[in-house]
Amino acid sequence: MSKHPDSRRVSRRDFVRYSAASASALAAGGLLASCDEKPVPFDPLFAKGGRKPKPTNRNPLKIPPTESADGYVLNAMPASVNLGGDHWSNAWTYNVDPQTNEGFLPGPTLEARRDGWANLTLYNHLPDETITHWHGMIIDQPNDGHPQYAFRAGEDPKRYSFKIVQRACLNWYHPHPHGRTGEQVNLGLAGAFIIRDDEEPDVLPAGPPYEVPLIIRDAKFDKSGNLRFQTKRSGFEGDTPLVNGTVNPTLAVEPAVYRFRVLNGANGRNFRFALDQGVPFHLIGNDGGLLEEVVTVTDGIDTSPAERLDLLVDFRTLGGGTVMLKDLRTGWDLLEFVVSNGDPGADILPLLPSRLSEIEKLVLPAGGVTREFAFEGMSRINGREFEMLRPDVDVPFGTVERWIFTTKGNAPHPVHVHASPFQVQRRTGGRGGPAPFPWETGWKDSVLLEDGETVEVLVRFDNPVLTKEALYLMHCHKLSHEDAGMMLNFRLV
Ligand code: C2O
Ligand code: CU
Ligand code: CU
Repeated sequence: MSKHPDSRRVSRRDFVRYSAASASALAAGGLLASCDEKPVPFDPLFAKGGRKPKPTNRNPLKIPPTESADGYVLNAMPASVNLGGDHWSNAWTYNVDPQTNEGFLPGPTLEARRDGWANLTLYNHLPDETITHWHGMIIDQPNDGHPQYAFRAGEDPKRYSFKIVQRACLNWYHPHPHGRTGEQVNLGLAGAFIIRDDEEPDVLPAGPPYEVPLIIRDAKFDKSGNLRFQTKRSGFEGDTPLVNGTVNPTLAVEPAVYRFRVLNGANGRNFRFALDQGVPFHLIGNDGGLLEEVVTVTDGIDTSPAERLDLLVDFRTLGGGTVMLKDLRTGWDLLEFVVSNGDPGADILPLLPSRLSEIEKLVLPAGGVTREFAFEGMSRINGREFEMLRPDVDVPFGTVERWIFTTKGNAPHPVHVHASPFQVQRRTGGRGGPAPFPWETGWKDSVLLEDGETVEVLVRFDNPVLTKEALYLMHCHKLSHEDAGMMLNFRLV
């Protein structure tokens, strides 16, 4: 925040004027120093300054179809997609709409119940090898989509069959071929995978219209408006946000309580989500399902690639108005909600149990193992780059361990562990701390490590479906880092 509030705040238009004045002062032999205006710190909330916002043509938010994960075929293929307002782009998608031939970006939302089965077949029609990973799934290794199983078009499809052995949560699916993940996700291959169970309170919306998945990412386009992926080791940075593959999206809502299942689906960008007009989020869950209690957040939630949020938003008093979902880091408008007039729906918030769920607290046993993983440069963990079949760490099945993630620079490093979720214990050397942020409590499979930060988690691999002696991955989910080798194999022993 600026220490000199309004009187010193320079709007963008004024800034242009000052710059022009300084330029002419320079040309006339004057000095920049003759202007005593100090630079005003960039504050994304005020990025628009005094300008009248340009009217934006908003496009209806796309909502991908929901499909049962038990008996579904995914075709990874090139396709054409409408990103809204007739902005057509070439993309790579999981399946196309059989009626219109338009690709699904994001992919269909897969759904399964705890103790149910997922039976999925993946065909590759891409000019590249691929393999699909079920991010967040507690799963045997042959179904996990390790890059060693990548295959090419024309080869036999990959058949997946696994039982859902974990609690309700929002997982997601995306490609995982080594060195190729960033591009494939960027061109559109990603979708939500919702697990349901009996533990979730009945008052929580499940399914349309009051439960809405939001996959939020950034994108870049070439001159013809096609998605463009530029490989850069430091990471992909788009200039346009997409929510569910929609440019400038808008969603018509009723004056009711909605449940948003949010995924940061970006290649490398952190978002700080907030609603404008002080409308709060009621945070009820994250990567690993429900939190123990509802937490109300008004000043923004930091998320890094692959992290998920389960949010309730109460539009009941906002009939006739609009609310904007924003990214406070860039000042971007992400998604506009237009609230209809009418009778407010029921307030489900007081109906939620005061304990949403009970979460077992992992405890490090006396003499328990501590391991440190240093995320170095843009491609190494503990000094090494990924090698496909090299086991880097042996981790005993069934015991709690303390894993410490450190970095010196080149952050963000969103650290992701396959096979089992972990519990964040503390963060030092950076944002917040030492206690984790409210959205980092409960079960997580991805956690943000910013420059200088050290994050400590407890983890235990104990589900009987986990495959011993096989290789599972841990990696940075900034996809350019992952592709460059910031990934390792651990072997359960
Ligand atoms: Cu979301 Cu190993 O990946
Ligand atoms: Cu994963
Ligand atoms: Cu990284």
